[in-house]
Amino acid sequence: MRLKGQVAIVTGAGQGIGQAIAATLAKEGAAVVVNDVVPERANKVAGEIKAQGGQALSVAADVSKAEEVSMLIAKTLASFRKIDILVNNAGIAKMIRLLEMTEADWDSHMNVNIKSQFLCSKAVIEHMVKQKRGKIINLASLAAHIGAPGLSAYGASKGGVAQFTKALAVEFGKYNIMVNAVSPGFTLTKMVKQAGKDRPDFLEGMDRIPLRRAAETQDIANVVLFLASAESDYITGQVLVIDGGLLAIHPRMVKPTD
Ligand code: NAI
Repeated sequence: MRLKGQVAIVTGAGQGIGQAIAATLAKEGAAVVVNDVVPERANKVAGEIKAQGGQALSVAADVSKAEEVSMLIAKTLASFRKIDILVNNAGIAKMIRLLEMTEADWDSHMNVNIKSQFLCSKAVIEHMVKQKRGKIINLASLAAHIGAPGLSAYGASKGGVAQFTKALAVEFGKYNIMVNAVSPGFTLTKMVKQAGKDRPDFLEGMDRIPLRRAAETQDIANVVLFLASAESDYITGQVLVIDGGLLAIHPRMVKPTD
């Protein structure tokens, strides 16, 4: 077991990629705090982990709010006494073109996708500095690296995640705290299926993916596990793209049929 004796918090772990990450870290021996803003989702995932023989604690909290993050950290420490791994996974994505975008749309992307990462990282890093060890893994996105219509707020928030990750890695390297991000491409979760319904052409690029398939949530969880484990102890400040090769394509050199 690669994470035996360690304590991990996974935000937004009630479904999708976060659920797969929580289950994967638990299988490797970590005690996992399953956070979600929807209590039933967090309870269900924590219950499934326990049913598989793992250790889990369900904590409902909106991680875009400072007081709820404080409560999440307090409950984690009360149950498990330390925090070794933080996975900042909670996120929202709405495809909204700029001229239709309201201030509330913009703010909600910034609050859930990046402010939450600031709040959670700040809250756990205090403890990681004291124990001189810690791993933080942030969920960015392919949208942090490319532009797409309707994704200006989402892309700006995720581009921010990439830079936030690098700055924290540099600031806290001397405390043996590694901070990395992953940028999933198309991953077939409810969020992606909803985006596909809002804008049917959204899923059209799938046939251009060199590996010819969308990611499964487990593909992302496997990489997060690597970044959470001792195997990646000399990696920090990286934003690792997990997209089946999509970003490597030069649009004028490769046709969908190639
Ligand atoms: P999802 O929508 O399936 O699950 C997200 C979970 O986060 C939900 O259970 C939701 O209740 C929870 N959540 C939302 N706001 C929250 C808050 N304020 N506090 C606590 N929990 C909250 O999303 P999915 O697809 O699993 O995405 C997870 C992460 O991966 C997100 O950060 C997303 O931006 C990123 N990502 C996903 C991609 C995909 O193709 N699915 C591609 C690139 C990045």
